[in-house]
Amino acid sequence: MKDHLIIFDTTLRDGEQSPGASMTKEEKLRVARQLERMQVDVIEAGFAAASPGDFDAIRSIARAIKGSTVCSLARSNENDIRRAGEAITLAARGRIHTFIATSPIHMEKKLRMAPDQVVEAAVRAVRWAREYTDDVEFSAEDAVRSDVDFLCRVFGAVIEAGARTINVPDTVGYSVPSVWGELIRTLIARVPGAGQVVWSTHCHNDLGMAVANSLSAVLAGARQVECTINGLGERAGNASLEEVVMAVRTRSDIFPVQTRIDATQIVPASKLVSQITGYPVQPNKAVVGANAFAHESGIHQDGVLKHRETYEIMRAEDVGWAQNKLVLGKHSGRNAFKSRLSALGIVLESEESLNAAFARFKELADKKHEIFDEDLQALVSDEEIAPANEYYKLVYSHVCSETGETPAANVTLTAGGVEKSASGIGSGPVDATFKAIECIAESGAQLLLYSVNAITTGTDAQGEVTVRLARGGRIVNGNGADTDIVIASAKAYLNALNKLQFPDRVDPQGDV
Ligand code: KIV
Ligand code: ZN
Repeated sequence: MKDHLIIFDTTLRDGEQSPGASMTKEEKLRVARQLERMQVDVIEAGFAAASPGDFDAIRSIARAIKGSTVCSLARSNENDIRRAGEAITLAARGRIHTFIATSPIHMEKKLRMAPDQVVEAAVRAVRWAREYTDDVEFSAEDAVRSDVDFLCRVFGAVIEAGARTINVPDTVGYSVPSVWGELIRTLIARVPGAGQVVWSTHCHNDLGMAVANSLSAVLAGARQVECTINGLGERAGNASLEEVVMAVRTRSDIFPVQTRIDATQIVPASKLVSQITGYPVQPNKAVVGANAFAHESGIHQDGVLKHRETYEIMRAEDVGWAQNKLVLGKHSGRNAFKSRLSALGIVLESEESLNAAFARFKELADKKHEIFDEDLQALVSDEEIAPANEYYKLVYSHVCSETGETPAANVTLTAGGVEKSASGIGSGPVDATFKAIECIAESGAQLLLYSVNAITTGTDAQGEVTVRLARGGRIVNGNGADTDIVIASAKAYLNALNKLQFPDRVDPQGDV
């Protein structure tokens, strides 16, 4: 009988701390629903005290999610803990994750606190947190550079105060697997009360060893791994959820643990997070990269055709790679459309959204004969990302692009319900379209990122575009999908402008 390994996903908190990866409340909810579908044990939904937007997003996630524990991060001070406690009150299962730094450099230079004061603050924080929930996690920030005797003292004190999970972070991604495993083993052996709590690890990837260090911790006795989809996270990121999950599953001969993750939801989760944050997944990324299951050399192809296991240790379909299956066509009806969405785990909130998505499906089926699962996912995403009260809407776009001529675009939008037209020229049709939109919007936003991804193969594939805009310290991502790449680009640009337009968006966590 294997032990249960708790998968604690922090895509919505540490992942969101990646530059430009901040998400709106609706986007956070979509990711949380996908994490729940994947059967993640704990979703760290944000940092309640960081901003009213983050607080609101955590509250909404706590209200909506029933299958996973919903957690808020909090520093070890009363205000943070109370905000976290209020944010998770509606959760079926809520957790408060409180932390304080324990390394000499952090205590002295950042906190300006003596070690005794740090122990006191940690204990007080855990006691406050226990007023809201029994499920309290404590992290010793920068544990990797902390003195082991001091760590034992802090951890012993917070366990006595009521912490149920003790998390050991490699905050700066400095450790190596043998050292990290040894630290976890030592702590479990020495900390008073160690046997009453779950030991957890949280590793950053600065030296590319976050997953290896996390797995080493598991071998040493950790039973919770903190990780993110696609390894998103502060600086070089966190341990990647998909790699941790598939490593313990594929090498069950080595790891004495099992997760409850539905691995077939991994690739959809990866695509969703990549699409929302605008962080592309490198093609050779383990498990979720486009080439992770592609065999290029003749020898490999021959081997796989004769016997798949010659070169494959996992099956693409087991982690959710679709078989590019033709699922629907232009004659498919509303019921077939709805039941295919539900097979993909997509539930549209209202009849209105279903009707709107179905109308778009019919439009798409007219342009593109073969509709794949990926097309449906993009189509629904496109539907969902349109904010209910869109300020800017694309009405019409025309581009002219000829060899030797300067590309030109004419665009008509509604801005707050009023129709406006403008034209622009640029170095290409997309540039010209953005210039025309800016003639109307005059947003003054700076374009930080423009990326295009073909959703399926073939020249009739839908292009999925991400646009990242910055204005006045705010960074937002916009997305759009269409078989016409210029239209997809215009939709993505307008989606980003709409997010800048509305103030109730989640801001980056900043220095809290
Ligand atoms: O990296 C880190 O130390 C953290 C803590 C808040 C757990 O993210
Ligand atoms: Zn972290």
